[in-house]
Amino acid sequence: MGVSDTKLARLALEARERAYVPYSHFSVGAALLCADGSIYQGFNIENAAYTPSNCAERTAFFRAVFKGQRNFAAIAIAGGPEGEDATEWCAPCGVCRQVMREFCDPSTFRIVLARSDGGLRTFLLRELLPESFGPEDLGREGAAYATEERG
Ligand code: THU
Repeated sequence: MGVSDTKLARLALEARERAYVPYSHFSVGAALLCADGSIYQGFNIENAAYTPSNCAERTAFFRAVFKGQRNFAAIAIAGGPEGEDATEWCAPCGVCRQVMREFCDPSTFRIVLARSDGGLRTFLLRELLPESFGPEDLGREGAAYATEERG
């Protein structure tokens, strides 16, 4: 596809700088690579009522799905205390893993954890969400719907 993990990580770190995190002061950025080579960034958006908060990964996915994307190759994620370098790995929460599962093949979709110093750790979705439940478990119609591109 021509988009390196290093570039995807840089875009996740860049998105992280604009996160809306007045409550946790923990900023996360994500960069989602689509099968067609396009990239959607996301950051976490928190809320005074706390539970409506949205993670960086889901912001990126929902932006992409809204634009008609249904096929994804990889996501880079970087997170840490607001205003500081991301010195630790920030793995996706369980809810975000399940959202990835809706649209991605667990055997091929790659999750790239990124640190500010350039460090990268890569996993397959199936490693972070084993024995998962997805659209095809509800029948072939659901599986087709999840992967069909819509404009
Ligand atoms: N968060 C993300 O956006 N992605 C992750 O992978 C982990 C957690 C957000 C949710 C919340 O806004 C803040 O980080 C602290 O949990």
